[in-house]
Amino acid sequence: MRVDAEGLLAWYDANHRDLPWRVSPFDRARGVAADPYRVWLSEIMLQQTTVAAVIDYFHAFTERWPDVHALAATPIDEVLAAWAGLGYYARARNLHKCAVEVSRQRDGVFPDTEADLRDLPGIGAYTAAAIAAIAFDKRAVVVDGNVERVMSRIHAVTEPLPASKPTLKSLADDLTPDQRPGDYAQAVMDLGATICTPRSPKCLLCPWRSGCRAHAEGIAESLPRKVPKQAKPIRLGIAWIVIDNTQRVLTVRRPDRGLLGGMLALPSSDWAETLPEDAPPVKAAWAEMGEVRHTFTHFHLRLAVRLTRVQDVTAIAPPTYETHTIQEAEAAMPTVFAKVCRLARDGAAPSTDR
Ligand code: ADE
Repeated sequence: MRVDAEGLLAWYDANHRDLPWRVSPFDRARGVAADPYRVWLSEIMLQQTTVAAVIDYFHAFTERWPDVHALAATPIDEVLAAWAGLGYYARARNLHKCAVEVSRQRDGVFPDTEADLRDLPGIGAYTAAAIAAIAFDKRAVVVDGNVERVMSRIHAVTEPLPASKPTLKSLADDLTPDQRPGDYAQAVMDLGATICTPRSPKCLLCPWRSGCRAHAEGIAESLPRKVPKQAKPIRLGIAWIVIDNTQRVLTVRRPDRGLLGGMLALPSSDWAETLPEDAPPVKAAWAEMGEVRHTFTHFHLRLAVRLTRVQDVTAIAPPTYETHTIQEAEAAMPTVFAKVCRLARDGAAPSTDR
């Protein structure tokens, strides 16, 4: 077996994953076209996120917003709330911006070239290539972490990432076919996700095994090599829960720029190396509820959770703050604040909260 696109496509025809945004190779051969809206939405959701984490969100989004016009017509806050839990929230704001642009300036039609796709908000080189290939069956060199791993193994590239990126891209380019480029792009992704996995690759099942240099040399699992990452620093902060008799809590909208930008949140201090001495949002006696830990891309966060009970939080909410029921807050907030809500609920309302 040589390493070539034909061998991989034959494997894909028999072994492809059924994914809700995907047109199967059988349907594609019958002339069924992919829906660019669904392909675009899936690719944005899948940036930095696994298929398993995305599937439920993909179904929820496409049921609620079946096309780009529907998504564009929705206020951003609703889109952010539906995105809550998926992480990397700038993606959701760019998703909405992109939907507005495609809906209003392009009549709902996504461009079909990599160059034009890259001009849209939230679409970088990888995503433009993936959409051109998967939605429009254009030849495009699609390189994500899966593809880098597969290329580094079949060619036994021992130079570590990220320095090896240009080499891996050029190797990916050499293999990308003119025929069925959309199926091919998804086939390499599936190979990387199901066979050529980071740990314990299933080389015996691989259609490219006999041409794979890393397999021949017995070094597949050790590739791709990576320059060791710096350990993540720990940051400390305080989250304040002001909760009333009707289970409403004080909330804030985070600034559009920066981490968790535009998301609904609980009032919190700065997050710093030492516990900040920021003033709480209201003057009150605070009970220590414990600590919530959450890991972001570049740091670990430890939030001390402080709670105070009031009679009616809407009556005392300072300007620029909002209020929500704690259930609404938990559903609409990014995971770190949803964890704080959960801690407060478990401590705050054990008799009503089953
Ligand atoms: N990862 C990124 N894009 C993907 C896709 N279209 N299918 C499966 N996994 C992916």
